[in-house]
Amino acid sequence: MCLGTACYLKGGQDLIEEARSLLGIGEGGVTQDGLFSIDPVRCVGCCGLAPVLTVGADTYGKLTRDQLPEIIAKYQSRA
Ligand code: FES
Repeated sequence: MCLGTACYLKGGQDLIEEARSLLGIGEGGVTQDGLFSIDPVRCVGCCGLAPVLTVGADTYGKLTRDQLPEIIAKYQSRA
């Protein structure tokens, strides 16, 4: 999850907290299945799309809380 200035100002920290809640992990934690960890990073270079989430090679821009469950489920279904 990007926490550069633009993403932070667009609610990135709240999105991190929501994602941690959904995944049941704390700071620095990893899900029991080993699929997810949440690492705040500096700007990933697409500030116009803030707030931005990257999962592996995939990038999600203009992220909202409502999108998080679907995004998580997408990767869980691939496992
Ligand atoms: S601050 Fe998040 S992409 Fe630049």
